[in-house]
Amino acid sequence: MDSFHGILLVAVVTFAIIHFVQAQDEGFISLDCGLSPNEPSPYTESATGLQYTSDSNFIQTGKIGRIQRNLEANYLKPQMTVRYFPDGIRNCYNITVMQGTNYLIRARAIYGNYDSLNIYPKFDLYIGPNFWATIDIGKYVNGTREEINYIPKSNILDLCLVKTDDTTPFISTFEIRPLPNDSYITTSGPLKMFSRYYLTDSEDYLRYPVDVYDRIWNSYTETDWKQISTSLTVNTSNSFRLPQDALKTAATPVNASAPLIDIEYPDSSNDKVYIYLHFAEVQVLKANETREFEISVNGESLDDSYRPLYLQSETVQTPSPIICEDKECVVKLTKSGKSTHPPLLNAVEGFAVVDFLQSESDENDVIAIKNIRAVYGVNKVSWQGDPCVPRQFLWDGLNCSSTDKSTPSRITSLNLSSSGLTGTIDAGIQNLTHLEKLDLSNNSLTGAIPEFLANMKSLLIINLSKNNLNDSIPQALLNREKEGLKLIVDGHGINQCLPGSCAPKKNFPVMIVALVATAVAVIIVVVMILVCVLRKKKTSSHVEANTPSVITPRANFTHTSMSETSIETKERRFSHTEVIQMTNKFERALGEGGFGIVYHGYINGSQQVAVKVLSESSSQGYKHFKAEVELLLRVHHINLVNLVGYCDERGHLALIYEYMSNGDLKEHLSGKRGGPLNWSTRLRIAADAALGLEYLHTGCQPSMVHRDVKCTNILLGEQFSGKIADFGLSRSFQLGDESHVSTVVAGTPGYLDPEYYRTGRLAETSDVYSFGIVLLEIITNQRVIDQTRKKSHITEWTAFMLNRGDITRIMDPNLHGDYNSRSVWRALELAMLCANPSSENRPSMSQVVIELKECLTSEKSMKGKNQDTDSHSSFEMSMSFDAKAVPSAR
Ligand SMILES: *[C@@H]1O[C@H](CO)[C@@H](O)[C@H](O)[C@H]1NC(C)=O
Ligand SMILES: *[C@@H]1O[C@H](CO)[C@@H](O)[C@H](O)[C@H]1NC(C)=O
Ligand SMILES: *[C@@H]1O[C@H](CO)[C@@H](O)[C@H](O)[C@H]1NC(C)=O
Ligand SMILES: *[C@@H]1O[C@H](CO)[C@@H](O)[C@H](O)[C@H]1NC(C)=O
Ligand SMILES: *[C@@H]1O[C@H](CO)[C@@H](O)[C@H](O)[C@H]1NC(C)=O
Ligand SMILES: *[C@@H]1O[C@H](CO)[C@@H](O)[C@H](O)[C@H]1NC(C)=O
Ligand SMILES: *[C@@H]1O[C@H](CO)[C@@H](O)[C@H](O)[C@H]1NC(C)=O
Ligand SMILES: *[C@@H]1O[C@H](CO)[C@@H](O)[C@H](O)[C@H]1NC(C)=O
Ligand SMILES: *[C@@H]1O[C@H](CO)[C@@H](O)[C@H](O)[C@H]1NC(C)=O
Repeated sequence: MDSFHGILLVAVVTFAIIHFVQAQDEGFISLDCGLSPNEPSPYTESATGLQYTSDSNFIQTGKIGRIQRNLEANYLKPQMTVRYFPDGIRNCYNITVMQGTNYLIRARAIYGNYDSLNIYPKFDLYIGPNFWATIDIGKYVNGTREEINYIPKSNILDLCLVKTDDTTPFISTFEIRPLPNDSYITTSGPLKMFSRYYLTDSEDYLRYPVDVYDRIWNSYTETDWKQISTSLTVNTSNSFRLPQDALKTAATPVNASAPLIDIEYPDSSNDKVYIYLHFAEVQVLKANETREFEISVNGESLDDSYRPLYLQSETVQTPSPIICEDKECVVKLTKSGKSTHPPLLNAVEGFAVVDFLQSESDENDVIAIKNIRAVYGVNKVSWQGDPCVPRQFLWDGLNCSSTDKSTPSRITSLNLSSSGLTGTIDAGIQNLTHLEKLDLSNNSLTGAIPEFLANMKSLLIINLSKNNLNDSIPQALLNREKEGLKLIVDGHGINQCLPGSCAPKKNFPVMIVALVATAVAVIIVVVMILVCVLRKKKTSSHVEANTPSVITPRANFTHTSMSETSIETKERRFSHTEVIQMTNKFERALGEGGFGIVYHGYINGSQQVAVKVLSESSSQGYKHFKAEVELLLRVHHINLVNLVGYCDERGHLALIYEYMSNGDLKEHLSGKRGGPLNWSTRLRIAADAALGLEYLHTGCQPSMVHRDVKCTNILLGEQFSGKIADFGLSRSFQLGDESHVSTVVAGTPGYLDPEYYRTGRLAETSDVYSFGIVLLEIITNQRVIDQTRKKSHITEWTAFMLNRGDITRIMDPNLHGDYNSRSVWRALELAMLCANPSSENRPSMSQVVIELKECLTSEKSMKGKNQDTDSHSSFEMSMSFDAKAVPSAR
């Protein structure tokens, strides 16, 4: 028997059975692919009486086309249009079916030169993740069809067309028919039909309505066969329910003593084949007559004495799949010795087992991701068919667990960054229960960061940055973060610091309460002078504006998020009323900072705090406020001033710090607060401050730059422990960036790294420079910039003095020579190294910490010994300072 493909055309023309029985097409799905939207849908096809529906509700991709006019007459209406897929590799129809039902699925492709290119397309058909068939129009130029019996494992059937070369996949119709659950059942997997004939001299083909399942029976005969038939009704009520007309006729051999041989041709010699043979006796046999024959396939006997039942249909099938060598399955019906009549055969079907080895992705994950797709209207061409498998068609932005083919894949990564998402974060995401990475960054998502994310135990990374989400992060999520979840939210994830680094250092014991005061009036005077200097000297400056205490801070904290709930219970959000209470109506001012006044206060009636109240008018101030709250709520270190809480209530902004009882370093150096600090205390304060900075630089991931290191920002606790304060200008680097270039440079004149000032390139070394200036102040107690000096900048002055080799004139006279000159030299060397105009030559803060600790140890050990021996000596200089190398603009 020949393949049915070529017969299609002829069969359509001669289709003759147009007597409609009652409608039995329940559960039928008939898609007219590419039906024009102008045409009614559904419509009844006149030849079959079947209702066809436009495919437009089952697929979102593809374009519609129509076969050449002159060919239309050869085809039924549903076959006259096509949907074709110039875009994407895989395009899928999703069709709702009944899980567990055995379906006949038929795809038909009639090219009809719809694109006027006369290039015959070749492409693959898949069901879900599994290859079904190749459509090769070059072999069947008049059109072809593929048919399979398949039991869907879910209620969604994905029928996919896959591009395999540069031709364009297309499809004419899909027809889906439920089959009874007691026929064509095998344990081997889906069955791909390669042959279905009824044996007749007629040329008619049979399908619905005479076949209730809409199988298509082509007619077939051989020259050495002759037809026998009956006009009586055949009882067809076995499970296969063949059409009457398929059983009313039968073939018998012309040579009554010869066997009846029928050959079926599967597509491949490797195919595992099932043959179904349908019999019914159509002749009246007398009492002394019999029709008995042996049925064998490929020489294997299925029945050695089969007798067809009179007008009663019966099916004999190969019980297990067979292999047909040379692509020929030989069915041989041999008359037995008892038989008075030759063998007969009414109809035959051949199927090949299709190995659907790839299991579909986990059903719940598939439902979940499709819901997410629907919620956000994701319009990615790859987002069709099975999300995970086969792997080459993985949905763009997904990754899945890949175990063996027999295990359903799970979605482990969802990356919808830069996908134009709007609305809130969809609760459906939590149904992806194996998700490890979630990236929704760079969209326009709004609303809250949902708590459910914290309950998704598999999650390791969440990126929600660059959205318009609410700032607050649920406490549960912050707790997960502590357990190792990486949470990237604007202004949050980037300020992540290692909790381990917060452990107090042995050498620098914990000091309990201490006092605050940020920038003080003194500095303003200094700066006012400076501003004038800078204006004069830097005429072509790229500095945009100057404000009193800082050169224009970079205002780029627009997305900074702030925790409404706090990391630790001691950090809290306070109401304005509480702020009034705690400061006793702003009774006692401690000082005035750049953006507001600092007041003394109490919380819980006993704990002293410093409350910085931000002036309401300052918009700059608000950004700094947010930056500082954001940073301090997450950064904890014994040498960083601790934020107790904050107030952010309709324009009332306040930062509540731990109280630093000894004010700032500047006050002490200037003698505003009692006697001068001795040398070893100064060294310890410097080491404390260096530890704080080291933590910002190396303990935070990514690292953070303070940008405003100066004496007024180093606060002193009860035992003169040093802490870094005022993080309003602090910046952290973008992930992966070694440095950060900003157009606007911020910091305090005099302390500002000249290289950063010149290039705008921000790095940790800028803090090292500023720290070097602080160290010089600690050593010399000179003003950072003094226009009355010949060398106005402290580095110029120190270098100038050093080159004269006289350290007594460099040292703060208030120390009265009470220091070990060795440690002084080391400190001086270190300070000048830090303040090196070239950032390359500066040490890291970690090196600074080590060096200062050693200075301190040597100072302590020398104490009480020959402490004064070297102080007037001309201790050999280990370096030479070129005053010209120091920038004159400082
Ligand atoms: C296609 O149909 C034409 C008639 O329109 C026929 O001549 C030709 O043989 C058919 N081709 C095949 C491969 O069946
Ligand atoms: C199936 O496709 C239709 C239209 O293409 C779409 O509206 C529907 O949501 C899809 N259903 C599923 C479960 O993917
Ligand atoms: C087949 O379907 C019928 C109803 O359509 C049901 O009663 C029967 O249990 C099913 N048999 C199997 C094996 O699923
Ligand atoms: C048809 O055959 C079935 C058994 O296959 C039997 O139960 C039924 O009664 C028969 N119907 C008629 C009308 O003889
Ligand atoms: C009929 O078939 C038998 C058995 O195959 C054979 O021996 C015989 O020659 C055949 N007769 C004719 C006329 O072909
Ligand atoms: C069967 O019996 C009839 C008479 O009832 C007779 O004519 C016929 O030849 C017999 N056929 C055979 C094969 O014996
Ligand atoms: C996707 O997951 C597999 C393991 O399942 C891994 O080998 C692969 O690198 C991942 N791909 C990407 C892009 O993350
Ligand atoms: C998501 O995709 C973007 C670009 O497509 C990529 O830059 C980003 O790293 C991805 N996110 C994750 C978590 O892999
Ligand atoms: C999550 O899945 C469950 C069960 O499949 C379903 O009932 C629920 O609606 C889904 N949740 C969302 C938000 O889609």
